[in-house]
Amino acid sequence: MTVEYNQYGELTMDGTNLKVLAQSFGTPTIVYDEKQIRNQMRRYHDTFQKSNVPYELSYASKAFTCIQMVKLAEEENFELDVVSMGELYTAIEAGFDPTRIHFHGNNKTKEEIQYALDNNIGYFVIDALDEIEMIDEYASSKVDVLLRVNPGVEAHTHEFIQTGQEKSKFGLSIKHGLADKAITQIKETKHLNLKGIHFHIGSQIEDTTGMIETAKIVLNWLKEENIEIELLNLGGGFSVQYTEKDTAFNIETGIPEIVENIKKQCEALDYPLPKLSIEPGRSIVAEAGVTLYEVGTIKDIPDVNKYVSVDGGMSDHIRTALYGAEYKAMLVNRDDVADETVTVAGKLCESGDIIIHEAKLPSSVKRGDYLAVLSTGAYHYSMASNYNQMQKPAVFFISDGKAREVIKRQSLRQLIINDVK
Ligand code: LLP
Repeated sequence: MTVEYNQYGELTMDGTNLKVLAQSFGTPTIVYDEKQIRNQMRRYHDTFQKSNVPYELSYASKAFTCIQMVKLAEEENFELDVVSMGELYTAIEAGFDPTRIHFHGNNKTKEEIQYALDNNIGYFVIDALDEIEMIDEYASSKVDVLLRVNPGVEAHTHEFIQTGQEKSKFGLSIKHGLADKAITQIKETKHLNLKGIHFHIGSQIEDTTGMIETAKIVLNWLKEENIEIELLNLGGGFSVQYTEKDTAFNIETGIPEIVENIKKQCEALDYPLPKLSIEPGRSIVAEAGVTLYEVGTIKDIPDVNKYVSVDGGMSDHIRTALYGAEYKAMLVNRDDVADETVTVAGKLCESGDIIIHEAKLPSSVKRGDYLAVLSTGAYHYSMASNYNQMQKPAVFFISDGKAREVIKRQSLRQLIINDVK
């Protein structure tokens, strides 16, 4: 558990009192249990090491990035995935070894390709036919690439975060011949070296079936087409627990299962086992993060609904509105029994601005209390917006009773910094 009540009934995270933190630094604020982030990274390393296969691990920075997060990933021996010039810039500014960075994206711009080449990144993940030509044209020496294939597999997850199904905008379809076309084109280039194959079938996936099935499709195709590779990148997508309804992907049993199936398939096909790679984002940071809010207005509509409004909203918490995602909240400054079901609402001018539709909270909740919304470490800060000119929250890493600020709260001045007067 990321947070627990202390003897005074106040919520703490690894020795830091969250009420004191909220009082001192304001709200909304996202706090991370730094040890828990590191522990997730170490669990993946330990499991792969035990599986005894050549492997590498990357962190998908889209889940949450900032200079300190990038540094942490480097310290934990993770490579880094980026999908935009901004994510790459953040990594470079953090001093991350560029040769351990991979550039993704279904529509990389010319500027991004040039910027990535100038910075000597590790590899590009090719996601379109015309990208092959573009990279070849801009490159002046050999550049490693992976080809993102579309396996035509439907992962069991929310439609918006499925990415491996046939009509997905991502990857090049094996079944429809685009992957073969890409391989031929890559071979014809002057600078591109096909280092490997990549797939990513979706996000928040609880079991191993989709990944195993996809790996099989990909390996069969590689054997059939006589393509040898150095690296097979299985993408990310491992699930986390938001509420009791979710099952977090079991790293210790799931990873060995995937690895064993890939090994077996390679043996059956008499195909050399490539180095394996995964690129989790959510499962590294989601459960380690908690958002602190201050309670404001409470609107009790008799026999209809009770709204507990907080000082943030869909500007820092879009996943409820966007995916119908569910969360749990806890009262920070009192451990009263959660005896009531209420709606936790944001303060933005939109009915859909709900944080939790049915939250279990104590009926004693009142203005001035603090709430902690759990499992908000992934795709929260990174998806935050300035809608309603809301300022982006501050972010802290907590470890051994110490809180260090890793992102300052956005200032009012920053909201208008690009406005022309
Ligand atoms: N690799 C690729 C190529 C990806 O597209 C993604 C996520 C990942 C790795 C990391 O997946 P993860 O381990 O975090 O599931 N905004 C959505 C999630 C979008 C995921 C996009 N791609 C959400 O809030 O659920």
